Amino acid sequence: MKIQNNIINNIPEPHGGRLVNRVFELKNNNAMDMFSIEIDDNLRNDIENIGDGIFSPLEGFIGKDDFESILKSGRLKNGLPWTIPIVLDVDESIAKKIQNYREISLKNNGDHFATLYFDEFYSYNKLDMVRALYRTDDEKHPGVSKTFKMKEFLVSGKIDVNKKINNYNLRNYRKEPTKTREEIKRKGWKTMVGFQTRNIPHIAHEMLQKAALNIYDGIFINPLIGKKKTGDFKDEVILESYIKLIENYFPSNRVMFVTLHTEMRYAGPKEAIHHAIMRKNFGCSHFIVGRDHAGVSDYYHPFAAHEIFKEYPDIGIQPIFFPAFYYCKKCLGYANERNCPHGSEYKEELSGTRMRKMVTSGELPGKHLLRPEIADVIIKFQNPFVS
Ligand code: ADX
Repeated sequence: MKIQNNIINNIPEPHGGRLVNRVFELKNNNAMDMFSIEIDDNLRNDIENIGDGIFSPLEGFIGKDDFESILKSGRLKNGLPWTIPIVLDVDESIAKKIQNYREISLKNNGDHFATLYFDEFYSYNKLDMVRALYRTDDEKHPGVSKTFKMKEFLVSGKIDVNKKINNYNLRNYRKEPTKTREEIKRKGWKTMVGFQTRNIPHIAHEMLQKAALNIYDGIFINPLIGKKKTGDFKDEVILESYIKLIENYFPSNRVMFVTLHTEMRYAGPKEAIHHAIMRKNFGCSHFIVGRDHAGVSDYYHPFAAHEIFKEYPDIGIQPIFFPAFYYCKKCLGYANERNCPHGSEYKEELSGTRMRKMVTSGELPGKHLLRPEIADVIIKFQNPFVS
């Protein structure tokens, strides 16, 4: 395995060296006669992500060797960093039938949208899977409970996307990596910092983004739009509040705002690696990892997502690690333990739980925690949270 341990200071090649492009019109219009499987909206998003190269170098659903290698070592069997298995689960009767076909139609609400070129099916151990991926087997963890509900077999094979999702407003800001890479060239940026979020922007988030902008050419604000757990903000609220934030508080020539359509997995450190790889494919040279990245409750140490990058000196995108940012009433501004000596009595933070309590009780956080434009967006929604 080639380890490149040098600091990255330019736009990297896609992960694995080449952007995957598997979006093709159906050659012969025979999807009607093909054996078909129904795919839900979440998985359809990920199939489109494969087709567009956001998951490069994956060209389809992973096979048994890659699956086992990902769980065992956080890498594909060829050694390339990869931490989240992208799989298609089916029940036994489908698994047995599917092996008789070379091409399978993938349908969403009965409509053909992609072709799967069947390779193999295999069984897997869910307990091993959750322990490796989520570092817990507690069913209260959203990723664990989802895994336990999966069907018993996995099917692998390359996919072609034949029809893209084009139907609603939430996708107005979706872009393929080919487009974001062209835009980076047009802008002349040598560095672009990826920012993952599943949240509305608090001022703490904005301070992380602006800290990166102090040094690097551009910020790639890339909220995750897709399935989230109860109590997280709804996609519409996240999207609208980011549009307001950028309009009012960022120089437009330093920001690229693109949505990422995939589900949150709440896999903490393993998901942080996955998040970084996707942003590398979009063309980011750097990636922000702050406190409790992709975490949920207290399953992960707040800085476990920093630690895991030590295992990936060859990932090809430079992580930027930030400590916990808070508002300090004595400094009268955002601070963190590296630059502020004041005690906890001066610290103010806006946790998700606090935010939910405030919104439900009709009280909104002060201007030092949340921009008024964002508060206005939240108030507009009768229920801004996923229920
Ligand atoms: S996440 O699940 O997408 O990680 P969130 O949208 O809240 O959740 O966080 C986006 C990014 O900001 C993550 O890298 C996270 O670690 C970081 N972050 C959020 N709040 C803080 C904070 N107060 N201090 C430092 N980093 C933070």
